[in-house]
Amino acid sequence: MASVVQEQTVKITINGIEIDVPKNELIVESVKRLGLEVPIFCYHPRMKPVGMCRMCLVEVGFKQPDGSVRMMPKPQAACTLPASDGMVITTDSEQIHKDRKGVLEFLLINHPLDCPICDRGGECPLQNNTLAYGPSTSRFVEIKRHLPKAYPLSKYVTLDLERCIQCGRCVRFTEEISGDSQLAFRFRGAAMQPSTYQLTDFESKFSGNVIEICPVGALTSSRYRFRARPWDLETKPGICTVTPCGTNVWFDYRAGKFVRINGRTNEEVNEEWTADRCKFGHDFYNAEDRLTAPNKRNGDGFVRVGWGDALGEVVKTFEAAGTKGAVLLGANLSNEAYFATQKLFRNVFNSPNIDARMTENAVSSADSVEAKLGVAAVSTPIAALESQDAVLIFGTSLADEQPMSFLRVRKGWYQNGMKVVVAHHSPTDADSFAHVVLNYEPGTEAKLAAGLAAALGVSGAKASLSDTAKATGVSESALAQAVEVLKSGSRTILTTHSLDESESGRTATHVLAGLAASAGIGFNHMALHANSQGAIEMGALPDSGVNTASVASGKNTKQILEACVSGEITALWLVGCDVLNGYPDRALVEKALENVETLVVADYRATETASYASLILPMALPAEQDGTYTSSERRVQRMKQILPAPGEAKPVWRIMTEAYLRAKPGVPSFNPAEIMNEIAAEHGGFAGAKYDVLPESGHLLPTRPGLALKSDVLTGVLGSL
Ligand code: SF4
Ligand code: SF4
Ligand code: FES
Repeated sequence: MASVVQEQTVKITINGIEIDVPKNELIVESVKRLGLEVPIFCYHPRMKPVGMCRMCLVEVGFKQPDGSVRMMPKPQAACTLPASDGMVITTDSEQIHKDRKGVLEFLLINHPLDCPICDRGGECPLQNNTLAYGPSTSRFVEIKRHLPKAYPLSKYVTLDLERCIQCGRCVRFTEEISGDSQLAFRFRGAAMQPSTYQLTDFESKFSGNVIEICPVGALTSSRYRFRARPWDLETKPGICTVTPCGTNVWFDYRAGKFVRINGRTNEEVNEEWTADRCKFGHDFYNAEDRLTAPNKRNGDGFVRVGWGDALGEVVKTFEAAGTKGAVLLGANLSNEAYFATQKLFRNVFNSPNIDARMTENAVSSADSVEAKLGVAAVSTPIAALESQDAVLIFGTSLADEQPMSFLRVRKGWYQNGMKVVVAHHSPTDADSFAHVVLNYEPGTEAKLAAGLAAALGVSGAKASLSDTAKATGVSESALAQAVEVLKSGSRTILTTHSLDESESGRTATHVLAGLAASAGIGFNHMALHANSQGAIEMGALPDSGVNTASVASGKNTKQILEACVSGEITALWLVGCDVLNGYPDRALVEKALENVETLVVADYRATETASYASLILPMALPAEQDGTYTSSERRVQRMKQILPAPGEAKPVWRIMTEAYLRAKPGVPSFNPAEIMNEIAAEHGGFAGAKYDVLPESGHLLPTRPGLALKSDVLTGVLGSL
């Protein structure tokens, strides 16, 4: 019979009410169970308590055997006090009110009180706590301390030292959460201040979070400073469409312009954190050169045309082109946009030349780990990473490519003692907490993966550790340590599509997938861009399709560009895809764009690529339309429209649906919800992503049915090494 681990509870009394709480739970958390609040500054539920600000004082006593209560002589900090049996807490007494008033009076002695010009004004815990618990007037008449104002800690973060209350949240964030330890306190006593080492730049991939957790306006966003006040902002929930993690965010906008991105809590995905790439990466919404109407080439310039004429011309061109037509898609379109595009091209234009990958080394669908080896591409959700016993990060700089997975792995190491093995040809952020780093020679990924597979007992893998060490440049002792860590317990291998960029990396991916399936290890081979995984699921690839008449194999991005040069492709449609600046071989792109007969560009702004177009169509951005996005952990999440698209710009799903209707009159799907129903009818995994059932935290796509390790294929791959 399975044993059930019972959480040990204790009986405590809060403001006269008896309650059972987990033993050692911090009192600051216990009071929340009764809907009460203890004011805080330095405490943060995701970091270790330090008791620095004394704002959370409560009166504490203990029940004695005779039933009396013996009070502690002084108030205690609720954020450092663990619950124990018989504890009696008072959060609301005259003494506590006096104590809180005293703490606030001290904090305000040197505080500049520049609320009218402070970015935090209106959403400031110091303002709020002062209003609720502080003194109504100041007795302080002396001259206040003066310190540097608006000191640029980095290009994103500005420090106003006068406002700092020395709570240590920012310092602890860089030590405990992001792990870059960029901030520390220097000096002591009243002079103590958060600082980088020798006042160098605050270099972190997660620096924006300290702005949000700073309980005052000491750390402010250099991008947001003086752009709005909280009371004239509107805020709506959204999803980041810059990183592939599906980070939940708040979009703050004012007078029709986005002004700020803040982290939004989703315990399954990002907890409450954002990567800087996400928090500061959404400026494109406010681009000066947003496209607002369709434009057609006229000599060296463009003339404005109506949508009817523009779409009529697109349909005529691509119908005539047939297999000589092609479409390339950007990486942050919605699932519905990818689906509608591949359906239009396959079913109406009879062209399978569709791709959404800006790489020279695209892996064919037949070579994916699922098709080739029968192993699920993603098996461990982000939230489950923190409870693994061991993780192997292979061939990826996780903090850059999968920032939320990086934070979870680091949390697993920091809080749960997870052991981390990093295998990469260059130093990465994860090295700082890795149990062992396997620094291999570039191009030896496959040999290293095969060596690990052999040492972990995968049948067909034969390389000894000493041979692997010789072949990869990794020391034999480091390999042995890695094997020791990876041989038992709950484990996951983390890789990304960047590993597929080289021949050796592609083979390594297959070996690692086989190793994972053989040894009962989780395996995540994650997509690199905002909705790259959605493009894969929706068949926006040359050799797979969803709800389409034919899935004949078409050309990938590289082949399409080459065919534009050779004249084999005569009509190219670029959708949200600035191929000149996105594809690695710029010379090939230039030749392709100069040579192709008809170039249609649908984009949100006048890109360099668009200057080559015959026809330019204005496109709505993700937060300007309804849609769903599939993150790299295969979580489908909904974005609702936040702002209207400028001018006549349209969502891509709509452009494609209208084109479809022009070519094949019928009853189309009128909105993204109906397109999702169509998707779900063809791709069973999306049944839980229909708009009427999609949960707020998103829908994790189930593992594709029928997957089982193809041992003979794995043996063949290992045999070739
Ligand atoms: Fe006012 Fe808060 Fe800014 Fe201090 S941090 S100046 S209390 S808004
Ligand atoms: Fe706390 Fe903000 Fe000062 Fe950092 S800058 S110690 S978060 S008040
Ligand atoms: Fe408890 Fe600061 S919140 S001491």
